[in-house]
Amino acid sequence: MRQQPESLTVIDSHAHLQDPRFAEDVEEVIARAIQGGVEMIICIGYDLESSRAAVELTRRHREIRAVVGIHPHDAKTINDRVLAEVWDLARDPRVVAIGETGLDYYRNLSSPDEQRKGFRAQINLAKKLGKPIVIHDRDAHEEVLSIIKQEKAGANGGIMHCYSGRLPLAVELMKQGFMISFAGPLTFSNAKKSVEVAARVPLDRILVETDCPYLTPEPYRGKRNEPLYVWEVAKKLAEIHRKSLQEIAYITAYNTRRVLGL
Ligand code: NI
Repeated sequence: MRQQPESLTVIDSHAHLQDPRFAEDVEEVIARAIQGGVEMIICIGYDLESSRAAVELTRRHREIRAVVGIHPHDAKTINDRVLAEVWDLARDPRVVAIGETGLDYYRNLSSPDEQRKGFRAQINLAKKLGKPIVIHDRDAHEEVLSIIKQEKAGANGGIMHCYSGRLPLAVELMKQGFMISFAGPLTFSNAKKSVEVAARVPLDRILVETDCPYLTPEPYRGKRNEPLYVWEVAKKLAEIHRKSLQEIAYITAYNTRRVLGL
């Protein structure tokens, strides 16, 4: 199923193809994406195992790049040995950033203190490696920003993934060197606030992502999400910014390449 004209391609800047929900058919999911014009998929780790699996996927598919790191949910597992393995994995040239890291005070699966420590440690690791960072922030906007500022986390650039905050925070993040990435929730009927924010983020700072298998965009809500559906986020942004889908696909792919050094 090719949804778009032949020449039109887009990048999914945040996918979890190594999630168990893709165990049965990941190769078909990847083939569908490529055939549908998704030129590159950035596969994001959330613990050691999924980080290793992300690197493994880059060996089988030249359209995939990996990001390795430990999600705030798993911050309690971070120790020197874990960080040393993230470091080792990250030295692979197909690993383009560290993450996803950050703070999640909504689910609090690790204590705030463990999350802050893990976040700072991974920022420092990214800085030593000279790589950008991919940040997850849920209900922790102020603290995420203050740690970013203190640690100069945007020194090598970074991505704020699945952005759900307000405009002033987005402006601060952009000042710190971050790209703002939008996902499926932008297409939901109750996304008025996010739509207003997305309208004000300049086009040279916007990325699109699926965060699959989660956050399935309209009109596929209720189904498992997959990289092909990143087109729905791009279509929504095209509508919001009154641009053609071609322009949005082109510029978001360009921005992704620029921040991740692809
Ligand atoms: Ni994610």
